Amino acid sequence: MVDRYVGVVTGAGGDIGAAVCRALGARGCGVLCVDLTEELAVRGAEEVRKGGGTAEVFAADVSDERQVFAYADRARQLWGTAHFFFNNAGIEGAETPIVSYRVEDWDRVFAVNVRGVFLGLKAMVHLLEHEMVTRIVNTASVAGMVATPRLAAYGASKHAVIGLTKTAAVEFAPLNIAVNALCPGPVESQMMRRIEQGMAGDAAQEAKRQFEAMIPQARYATLDEVADLAVYLLLDCPVYLTGQAIALDGGLSIA
Ligand SMILES: NC(=O)c1ccc[n+]([C@@H]2O[C@H](COP(=O)([O-])OP(=O)(O)OC[C@H]3O[C@@H](n4cnc5c(N)ncnc54)[C@H](O)[C@@H]3O)[C@@H](O)[C@H]2O)c1
Repeated sequence: MVDRYVGVVTGAGGDIGAAVCRALGARGCGVLCVDLTEELAVRGAEEVRKGGGTAEVFAADVSDERQVFAYADRARQLWGTAHFFFNNAGIEGAETPIVSYRVEDWDRVFAVNVRGVFLGLKAMVHLLEHEMVTRIVNTASVAGMVATPRLAAYGASKHAVIGLTKTAAVEFAPLNIAVNALCPGPVESQMMRRIEQGMAGDAAQEAKRQFEAMIPQARYATLDEVADLAVYLLLDCPVYLTGQAIALDGGLSIA
């Protein structure tokens, strides 16, 4: 057991990042909160502190190699090590069928969701490598397991995150690092509000009802449910649990 777990959360100012920051704070963790702007990173840091932990902020674009190595260097300066890494930043991108999906929108989704996750693994692995068990969670999605009509780049990028997770789990196994993909279905969050709006405009409530009707438990996940699972995978799970894509989706992916 360590006295205090320390690590990095990307996308810390988003709804899932902030919920996980608060839950990590409640475990007394030290967290380097990374997001696109300092203002967003501060949202994550405030949640860590509300929970009872300590936090630092770092503004970085996860699709930029130099900026990713800069946040890893900052974590090294702060603690010399890390016990967890929540590789979570992501965007949903454009919502339109493949025939009208713009190449630049496709590229941006892959730059953030796939290159960002890959760079995070590359930059953070040596910080996580020491004698104790450490853990990485890449945020994929149930969109990495099933078809995602009108969200082609998002779905393909999340399939790629699951693939990267498996490769990292094998490559990092000798280092005692567990690597798993967290795969939520729809979560009560701003991202889902944007997706519902993009699907149906003024009929967003109807789009939500249609999504819920596809889920055996007939509701979205709560942010607390996502945070509880993320913290288990980041701090508590056995190292033997590795390389898995773990759906938190009310049965959506198996229905
Ligand atoms: N909300 C959902 O229903 C849901 C479901 C499944 C998976 N996910 C995934 O969970 C993760 C978090 O999503 P969320 O719901 O909190 O969304 P969100 O939009 O609230 O948060 C995403 C965060 O990532 C940050 N970000 C975006 N691009 C970035 C970049 N280039 N560099 C650094 N930070 C960047 C944003 O600023 C934002 O703070 C994403 O990977 C998303 O795909 C979300």
